[in-house]
Amino acid sequence: MKVGIIGQGYVGLTISAFAGEFFDVIGFDNNPRIVDQLNSGKSHIEGVDSNVLKSWIEAGRYKATNVESDLSDVDLVIIAVPTPLSPDRKPDLAFIDAACKTIGENIRKRVLIINESTSFPGTLRNYIKPAIEKYSSGPIEHMYAISPERVDPGRGDFNQKNTPRLFAGLTPEASKMTRDFYSKFCDKLVEVSSPEVAEAAKLFENTFRQVNIALVNEFAQIAHSLGISVYETLDAANTKPYGFMKFTPSAGVGGHCIPVDPTYLAAVAEEHGAPATFIRRANEVNLEMSKYVVDRVQADNGGSLQGKSILVVGVAYKPNVADVRETAADLVIEHLRERGAVVSWHDNVVGTWKSEISAPLSGADIAVVVTMHDSVKAADVVASATYVFDTTGKLKGVHGL
Ligand SMILES: NC(=O)c1ccc[n+]([C@@H]2O[C@H](COP(=O)([O-])OP(=O)(O)OC[C@H]3O[C@@H](n4cnc5c(N)ncnc54)[C@H](O)[C@@H]3O)[C@@H](O)[C@H]2O)c1
Repeated sequence: MKVGIIGQGYVGLTISAFAGEFFDVIGFDNNPRIVDQLNSGKSHIEGVDSNVLKSWIEAGRYKATNVESDLSDVDLVIIAVPTPLSPDRKPDLAFIDAACKTIGENIRKRVLIINESTSFPGTLRNYIKPAIEKYSSGPIEHMYAISPERVDPGRGDFNQKNTPRLFAGLTPEASKMTRDFYSKFCDKLVEVSSPEVAEAAKLFENTFRQVNIALVNEFAQIAHSLGISVYETLDAANTKPYGFMKFTPSAGVGGHCIPVDPTYLAAVAEEHGAPATFIRRANEVNLEMSKYVVDRVQADNGGSLQGKSILVVGVAYKPNVADVRETAADLVIEHLRERGAVVSWHDNVVGTWKSEISAPLSGADIAVVVTMHDSVKAADVVASATYVFDTTGKLKGVHGL
């Protein structure tokens, strides 16, 4: 069987690497730089081993391409393209639409189409299927299914094999084919009664994280005002063996999921007349954390940051990945610069970001730690500035949340 995977980013390449053991995989991406790099056997995604990629290429089971017609003879297509927010923070399905156009215009035989991109309930039935039919030159009754991706890039303990996978087809035939496909490389498949349930479950999983992170971020502010340690309090609460799950405070949330997915849920809720006040407020609390952090740093430093050299340590949105999408470091830097500070940042995992390069980890008046990669030594961070404010809870003997 030949599988086409549209989008060779975090999700698409991860699936390609697992599927390549059992199927011929065409990795379609419209970024020619990524295509060239992948065909030379180099993975650009943490967690996808270049050696695995090379071995599938050598065995003739993987090829990256940006030529749409290379998808014409696949039997199954997976959509794994971005689902971001528009500038006015509404769901933006432009990438999904482009993927549907590629499928509609290039695949003439009946195939199974599985969406792995995260989107609101109803996307498969009311958006993807009609869009593909619109772009197809003649009437083709494709099969459609959803299987939302749960990959956590950079994570070692859970992967495609041992993370249970939700799925649902629009028809029993599509469901069966979807199960047959994923069961080759995933231990546990969970079929739900409709694509809408699978789509909603994915959004709710990340909304659950978003609101709990917002709650602990608010609690960090309460604990500070009470003069108690937020970390000690959380550890104490976490001794309860049931009914509590520990989340830790931070400068905010980042990545493609937690800041974005809940807004997809809120948008569809509001469209149906259901309020999403809790979700909306959680988003605000997380966004406001960067200002709270900068306020604390300013208060500790004589009430002004004017002219101070400030090093932001760790600009990736989480440890051990180079991903800076929606990173809280961005807002922290913006607030610091607005207050007249001279800001640079250090992150050797990210390297270059917004045309700036990672600065040395030393010699600043103030360091604000947003993300601690495993490769960064705590002692070096502590010694990098006269005053250090840690938002990660990983450093001892410095200021923090
Ligand atoms: N990154 C994660 O941890 C994660 C986890 C679960 C779900 N998701 C969801 O999966 C989807 C993809 O996310 P991602 O993180 O893999 O994105 P990504 O930005 O890492 O990769 C997307 C890739 O798609 C390519 N692309 C965009 N439009 C295209 C098109 N029309 N045709 C071909 N290629 C195209 C881009 O060049 C890019 O390489 C999103 O809906 C996201 O919410 C992501």
